[in-house]
Formats: sequence, C-alpha cells, structure tokens
Amino acid sequence: MTPPVPVLVDCDTGVDDAMALLYLLARDDIDVVGITTVFGNNTAAQCAHNTLRVLELVGRRDIPVAVGAERPLVGEVTYLATHVHGNDGLGDSGLPMEVSTAVSDLSAVELIDRLSFEHAGRLRILAVAPLTNIARALETIPDLTDRIVDIVIMGGAADVAGNQSPAAEANIIHDPEAAQLVISAAWPTTLVPLDVTMVEVLTERHRSMLIAADTPVSRFVAATTDFYFERYGMDSYGVRCSPCHDAVAAAVLTGEVVPSVFPVIDVQVDCTDGPGRGATICDTRGRYRGFPSMPEGNCRVALVTDGTFPDLLIAALGA
Ligand code: RIB
Ligand code: CA
Repeated sequence: MTPPVPVLVDCDTGVDDAMALLYLLARDDIDVVGITTVFGNNTAAQCAHNTLRVLELVGRRDIPVAVGAERPLVGEVTYLATHVHGNDGLGDSGLPMEVSTAVSDLSAVELIDRLSFEHAGRLRILAVAPLTNIARALETIPDLTDRIVDIVIMGGAADVAGNQSPAAEANIIHDPEAAQLVISAAWPTTLVPLDVTMVEVLTERHRSMLIAADTPVSRFVAATTDFYFERYGMDSYGVRCSPCHDAVAAAVLTGEVVPSVFPVIDVQVDCTDGPGRGATICDTRGRYRGFPSMPEGNCRVALVTDGTFPDLLIAALGA
C-alpha cells in the first residue's frame, strides 16, 4: 500500500480554493499536511479563518493553518476579490463563521520550512493564490527546492486573455515579482492557467446534483457556487455557471486531470508597470509543430483539457 502523498496547500480561501481543499481531503492518496494563506480573495487572516471553517466542516481540525503575507513583495495590495468571492470570502454562504480551532503559531514561511523537513523528498506544493508566501520561502529557507518534489500552480494565461486585466490572471497580477521568482526556481513547476480552468465549467446541473445530495459538504459548495455563478459566471460567460480554477489545479496534481497538450516551455512573468503587468509570457510557438522538446523550458503548462472534470469534482464532493 503506497503511503498517501504529503501536500502543502498555499491558498486564499476563496470559493474555488475551498473546492480544491475539499477535493484533496476526500482522497485517500493525498495527505494535506499543512495549509498556508495569503492575501488575494480576501486578507490572509480572513482566508485562514475561512480555511478553518472549511476544515471544521469535514472534521479536519488536525491540519495546521498558518497565516502568510498580507501584501506583495513589491508595492501594496491593489484589490481584494470580495466582489467575486463575497465579503466573507466564501460566497457569503451562511457557513458558520465561528470555529473552535486557532490558526498555527507559525508563520506561513515557518510552516513551509518545518513541513519541508518533516516530509523531505516527498512534499508537493499546490499553490492556488498569489505566490508571495512561496517566494518568501524561497528567499529565506536554504535549499528548500532540494526537499520539495514539485509545485503545481493555478495561475496565468498562456494563449487566452487574463481575468483581472486583458493580459493578466488574478493570482499572478497580485504579485508578479513573486510569480517570476517561483516559476524560475530550481524545482519542477507545473502551471495550470486560465487556458484550461475556464473550460472546466460548473453548471446549474452540477449545482442541482450537489443540492440533491444534501450533505453538509454538497450543501456548502452549492451555496458558495450560487454566489460565484452570479458574480463570476454572469460577468465572464453571460450565464450562471463558474470555473473551478483551484480544483482543476488540484486534480492536475493528483493526476485525475491529464491535459492533452501539456508541454514544458519557457514562461516569464511581465513585471513591468505597463498594461502587460502580471502577464505570463508563455513560449507556445511550438504549438504547430507538436511542441518539440524545449530543454530550456522552465515550466510544464497545461494548455488543453477536455472539460469533463466538473463531473468528477462533484462526485468527489458527494453528489
Ligand atoms: O484567477 C483565479 C484565481 O484567483 C483562483 O485561484 C481564485 O481563487 C483566485 O485566487
Ligand atoms: Ca485561489
């Protein structure tokens, strides 16, 4: 029996962050050994509180949750995505705000450091938020990359438009300098950008199945997606539906989603102050030649998936 894979999740819990956490926590092959939070969908502190709320929903008070950065490496927070994820960050879904557990006494970087030694050589990182915590960990923890198997990042846009600006996806534009540092670090990096997360769409059919399942988890996800459908779906697709960005990245990490076009290519982040700030500049020029090997590539990028993951996600969530 292969032991479950230890995974550290860095998130800004968030409606889809919660989906990713619940998806991973439902799997026997994954052991979520720690969670760190960062500003983005809400403040890092609120995102940590939201994470505790989600963990209590599934009785996982044992998992340490550490609060991380409240601002990017450079500059200040330009916005918090409360317009998309609700004032509480979980779709104002009515999930009880009170929790009986506290956040860790450790900072996010301290928890990453400790877990990198406790699970040296086996720890994987799922990063589904601005990359400030991960960048700070790289800056302050000696030889961190030697102890980490890989990092899977939800972020960026390769050959499609951004969602926070025409050029940039939210997680990256919140802290482009951090993203550049993380993507260019000496560890295997997988990027799961909007190219695939915007085609893995939750619909009213999925919500109806979650409601019909009538479990605490399925009711919670149905409630948070009600808000998300209205705020994200109507704005992005013109109909009530939503992506499940972070859950797709989690499924790429588990191997349940295997992109059909998944090359190792060069990725750079635009850290200028122009209209392209936060863009992930992905060298996809090999697209028409079947993406020949690119030894100088620094990142495996998910470019095409088949849109069937939402059915698997709601099944994992009990529907
Ligand atoms: O652009 C989508 C990403 O930004 C997701 O991770 C979502 O949770 C927000 O953090
Ligand atoms: Ca997120």
